This record gives sequence, structure tokens and C-alpha cells, in this order.
Amino acid sequence: MLHSVLEQKLQEAVSAVLPGADLSGVLVRPCPDLKFGDYQSNAIMGLAKERKLNPRQVATEVLARLDVGEWCDKTEIAGAGFINFRLKTVALERALQAAAGGEHLFYVRTTHPRTVVVDFSSPNVAKPMHVGHIRSTILGDCLARTLRLLGHRVVTDNHIGDWGTQFGKLLVGWKEQLDEAALTRDPIGEMERLYKAINAASTADPAVLERARQELVKLQAGDADNLAIWRRMIDLSAQQFNTIYGRLGVKFDEVLGESFYNPRLKGTVQSLLAGGIATESEGAQVVFFEDIPALKDKPAIIQKSDGAANYATTDLATLAYRMETWQPAEIIYVTDGRQQLHFQQIFTIFKRWQPQARVKLAHVWFGSILGDDGKPFKTRSGETVKLADLLNEAEERAFQAVTVKNPELPEGERRNIARVVGLGAVKYADLLPNRQSDYVFSWDKMLALNGNTAPYLQYAYARLRSIFRKSGLTAEQLGRAPMTLAAPEELALARSLLNFGLVLEAVAAEYRPNFLCNYLYELAGYFAQFYENCPVLKAEGPERLSRLALCELTGRVLQQGLEVLGIGVIEQM
Ligand code: ARG
Repeated sequence: MLHSVLEQKLQEAVSAVLPGADLSGVLVRPCPDLKFGDYQSNAIMGLAKERKLNPRQVATEVLARLDVGEWCDKTEIAGAGFINFRLKTVALERALQAAAGGEHLFYVRTTHPRTVVVDFSSPNVAKPMHVGHIRSTILGDCLARTLRLLGHRVVTDNHIGDWGTQFGKLLVGWKEQLDEAALTRDPIGEMERLYKAINAASTADPAVLERARQELVKLQAGDADNLAIWRRMIDLSAQQFNTIYGRLGVKFDEVLGESFYNPRLKGTVQSLLAGGIATESEGAQVVFFEDIPALKDKPAIIQKSDGAANYATTDLATLAYRMETWQPAEIIYVTDGRQQLHFQQIFTIFKRWQPQARVKLAHVWFGSILGDDGKPFKTRSGETVKLADLLNEAEERAFQAVTVKNPELPEGERRNIARVVGLGAVKYADLLPNRQSDYVFSWDKMLALNGNTAPYLQYAYARLRSIFRKSGLTAEQLGRAPMTLAAPEELALARSLLNFGLVLEAVAAEYRPNFLCNYLYELAGYFAQFYENCPVLKAEGPERLSRLALCELTGRVLQQGLEVLGIGVIEQM
């Protein structure tokens, strides 16, 4: 990519002027304001400061050795020592030409692939996946797709909640009150009903609570009947989860639920005790964090006083297993913000436990989805919104909209468009806000054809495809079209295309899909301006070809960008 070529040239010049300088921060990035140039680097200032040199002086010397005439018209020093690059039009044209010919799509696959484990979705058995799980599923899937596109080895792992004290109550419910017909109709609904019933009964009657405790002990001890029921609950839940994943187009490489780690829990606790990391406190095994102000009075229990392991124990065993099995360079956990303390504790304990491990651990957390009233999003009757219902409604609403717009299309086609648009709208609405802020769920906003929405981008894509169809050209012919950029709108669109790879890298580095959403929206805006001001189909000769190729590239980036967000496109809308 152009910016990496300039970066490399700049690094060579810097190391000639400042031998031994750390070049890892010598980066070239798009200029925030096109007035100053296309690309910019602020690296000289830091390097000069470290050496107590005058930054402008250093910049002048670097510039004297900077050989970028092949790509840039002008390179100049600005402000306290910024270096600004102004691209030659021909350099832009060459970059676009290479993309049109299929050499790249404005991003590069890394030459240093890392193994990254992405732990996301992770719903709980016997409970419906609710709207809170949607964020984890959609964000995690997008991060995995981005990393894969950039050439990394990704292991997606669904850490299903398939173990824990809730199974005591579930087993009592199953044995005493199961409605087989209801279970066949709606397995998760029935299991949820059983849980709620026994939960309520055990608050009223200690004898029920005691029965639940005993069923749990039996399950943990490997009782054959209880294990069989428990497996059945897992299978039934998995079927329902898989239906949702299928609809969302989400796949997992591994589905290693919490129970998978049961055989490793004892050893984990022993190892932490032997290493002096955990100590006994009031019968429980606990890790203290006296040296960390934020965690000072928040010790982590890794084994309860009754000898039972918990969520923390399981996560530590899981982490050790992942390190042994995949030797990842990075593990990403996507959950809501309420688990921040949990992951701070887990990451801190792990560093003490396996200090030699070289792994970046990231808790990628997110805020809540709110209703119009600013409170957590609920149904009219005040229940949590089930994911399946939400997706149905999205498709239904999109279907109404498509039908109004294109009543003449056959119903099957309208349904298909509605599926892609409805699911795309829900996903995009979830990925667009800064993930750490709460957002208000609004059907009207997310399904709007105008504004920063999936339907807007999908519509822009469909329009590009229709231009292409009308051109009468083949993709092949366009790939060989020489690019000639002249109008300011053409140049602006071309520059925007060039930034696709940098945006993908920023998404992967900061775990922020919203960067990509905003980029695609901007790109569509540049395209709209271009299309308004520059005739395409009516242009002639080389200009027509070049403009059509520009359309084609925009379409490809939109399509690829949406795909990374997990969102589909349609050829005609
Ligand atoms: N099952 C958990 C929940 O629904 C999320 C698990 C996240 N992953 C993990 N390794 N702890 O809250």
C-alpha cells in the first residue's frame, strides 16, 4: 500500500539521520486535513525530543534524505515537525489500477501471522439467548473476521455456560415437573420455565432447595441419570443456539463449554496454591491483590469453602488450556462491561501463575442496549427480549419496507432481500456505536435508507452494481481499464479507497468495529459526491472506463467491508 511505501522510505531516512532510532513508531497515516497533504507523520517530534534536538532541524535533515519523488509531488515540514506528504495523481492512479487488476483490495495480509483466540457469544445452557448476547456474538464475529482477513490465525471459541449451580434446580424441575410436549415445542422455553418454577419454590420451601443441592452433588459426582439429563439439556440448547448462529452467519471453530474444564479444576487450584498465588482464607482458597490499588479490597475466590470451583477457576483452567493447545499471541474476550472486574482478576492471576507466558489478554467489553425510556431494552410486558424474536421482527419490518418499495418483485425475492437487510440493520446498529457506550435500540433508525445504516450502505452497493450492469462491460474489461483521475471528487474517492487497509488494522488493534462502519459510511458519501458531479455512464472513452473502474472498486470495498461486519449485500434492492 502507498502509505507503507512512504513509511518505509521515511524509516530509512530517519535511521540515516538518527542511527539506532526505534523505528516502530515511525508511521505514516492519512492527514486529518487534506489541506496539508494526503499523508502525515508526527514521528520526528518524539524522536527529536528524546535526544534533546530541535525537531524542525531533524525534520529538515530527514527530508533531505527522503526519496519519495516517485509517489509524491511535495513533502514538507509543518508545525513543530510534522512531515506532510502530497501524493502525485499518477501514484493514486497506479494504486487503483493495481486494485482494479485484482492485485489487492487496499489492504495487505500480514507477513507475521499471529494466533488469536476469540472467546465470544458464550450463552448459557437452558436459558434463551437474549439481546445482551447479541452484542458479544456480533462484535466477536466481526473481530474474528477482521483478523482473518488480515491474515492472522484465528480460533473462535464459544465458551458456553454449561456447568454450575443452576443445574441443581433444573434437575429437580426436570424430574418433577417436566412437560414433554412443551419441551418438544420450545425446549429452551420449557427449561426456562422449570428453572423459574424451582427457583421460586426453593425460596418458599427450604426442602426444595435441599433437593436441588442434592441433585447438583449427584451430577458433580457423575451420577448416570443426572448426567444423561444434563447432556440432553445441553443438546437441546445447542440446537437452538445453532439456529440463531445459522441465521446470523456466525461459525465457531471450537465450542468448549465450561464443563470441558472440569477435569482441570482441581489441578488449577493446587497449582495456584503451590505457587503461593492463592492462600486459604476462612476455608476458601483466595487470591489477594494487595499491590494493585484498584483490586486491593477485591480478592478473587478460586475455590469456595465447600470445595466447589467457580467461574474464576474455570476461566483460569481455560486460559491455561488455550495456552497449551494453541500458543496464542493474543486472547480476546468479548463480554458485557459488568465482567470487567472478573477479567482484571483473571488476567492478573494468570500473569503471576505463568509469568513466562507471552500473550496479550484483552477484555473487549461493551455497554447495554437500551429501550426508548433509557432503561435496559425490554419487551412491552417487561421481559428481556429474546434474540430469535428480535431477528424475526427485523426481517418482518424489512419485508414490509421492501414490499412498499418493490411490490412487483416475487415474494421469495422480497423475503431474501428482507433477510439480508433486516439482519444487516440489526448488526450494523450494534457495531456502529462506540462499543463501550450504551445505545438506544430503534427500529426506525436502523432500518432507515438514509443515514449511517446498513440499508443505506447496501443500497449504495446495489446502485453501484446497477451502474456496472448498465455499462455493458465485464469485470475483466474494467480490470484492464487505465485509471485517469482529475476531478476533485474522483481524487477524494480514490484517497478514501486507499485507506481501507489502515481502517481494518485499526479495527483489529483497538477492537473497534465502529471505525469500519464510519469509514464505509464516509466512503459511500465520497461516492455519492463523485456520482453527483462526475457523469459515469454518459462519459466517453478512457474517462468512462476509468470512472466505471472507480465505481467497481468502491463496490468491492463496500462489499468486503460489509462482509467483515458480517453483513451481506444484494445485487438489486
Ligand atoms: N457465559 C458467560 C455469560 O453469559 C460469558 C462467558 C464469557 N467467556 C469467558 N471465558 N468467561 O455471562
